[in-house]
Amino acid sequence: MVRVFLRRVERVRQLMQEQEIDCLLLAPTTNMFYLTGLRTVPDERLQLAVLPVDGPLTLVLPEMYRETAANLPVEFTLLTWPDHQDAVALMRPALSVLPGRVAIDDKMWTGHYFRLRRAFPGAEFVAAQDLLDQVRACKDEWELSLLEQSGELADQVMGETVRAIREGISEIALVTLIEKSIKDLGGEDLAFRPIVASGPNAARPHHRSGRRVLQQGDLVILDFGGVVSGYCSDITRTFCLGKAAEDVQEIYRVVQAANEAGFRAAGEGVACQEVDRAARQVIASRGFGQYFNHRTGHGIGLDGHEAPYILEGNPAPLRQGMVFSVEPGIYLPGRLGVRIEDVVAITGEGPRRFNDFPRELLML
Ligand code: CO
Ligand code: CO
Repeated sequence: MVRVFLRRVERVRQLMQEQEIDCLLLAPTTNMFYLTGLRTVPDERLQLAVLPVDGPLTLVLPEMYRETAANLPVEFTLLTWPDHQDAVALMRPALSVLPGRVAIDDKMWTGHYFRLRRAFPGAEFVAAQDLLDQVRACKDEWELSLLEQSGELADQVMGETVRAIREGISEIALVTLIEKSIKDLGGEDLAFRPIVASGPNAARPHHRSGRRVLQQGDLVILDFGGVVSGYCSDITRTFCLGKAAEDVQEIYRVVQAANEAGFRAAGEGVACQEVDRAARQVIASRGFGQYFNHRTGHGIGLDGHEAPYILEGNPAPLRQGMVFSVEPGIYLPGRLGVRIEDVVAITGEGPRRFNDFPRELLML
């Protein structure tokens, strides 16, 4: 494990050198976890990992995290501060690397960012995520196995949830059930708030599930993921309560074909936007182009959404070890929605899905 983290830090430093960045400033995000193994609860108290291009890593943490930081897989200097003192004032003398060109965690709270900017007026702050993505986007074997496990968990939870779908149950009851199954079946957390979207609500890709009760003839979208050892899953399936009308079945088949086309288009060296085009083309050619109103997919790992993004305008080639979703959909406002989402990995033997739950329309 120690070697994994050393390699990550080394690779990041190499990119910092290439991009003339003097220092990397991480907030308590997945970036901090990725490089130091430290996971805390982000809040209004300043927490930083300060990585100079050369020189030791420094962790700046509230005193209460001394124990949490005791057994990390990386070497570091610890700078703790008691809650009643000003963290920025305390750390300033220790951080001689600032000012300089400082790459800052994109997900740092803006409150912290503004305080740092005031404290280090000579520093030039730039966004760090592009650099970190270059390291994080390609998963190693260990990460791939965790993403695979996370995908299996999602499949299992889908199986459990399908059994509970029936007329009269509410969206929110299904959300609760999904959350419980994820944890019962070994997940440590939810990757995001599960989406259960029924009937006309399914026309909203990110519907916030509520009290609506499922009715005969509804299409129901289930979209959720769990977290296994830090790694997220993300699966979507669409079901029909009762027998679907022929035109609805046709829409479903178009989305299924688009999901398949996106998967088949994926491969090492293929531009991200080509995967989007492959899926979109299937939907557009059947006249539903305007009803597919989001990108085809997003990378997944420690974050539920991360690089690479599978969309038009991203010419970056897919590389071995990249893991991302393929999730085309058709949404008819006021009426219905269909989405089918799998997580796909680029391997030496081509694309591989981490979700195996059936993709055919299940009429319950
Ligand atoms: Co999803
Ligand atoms: Co997704």
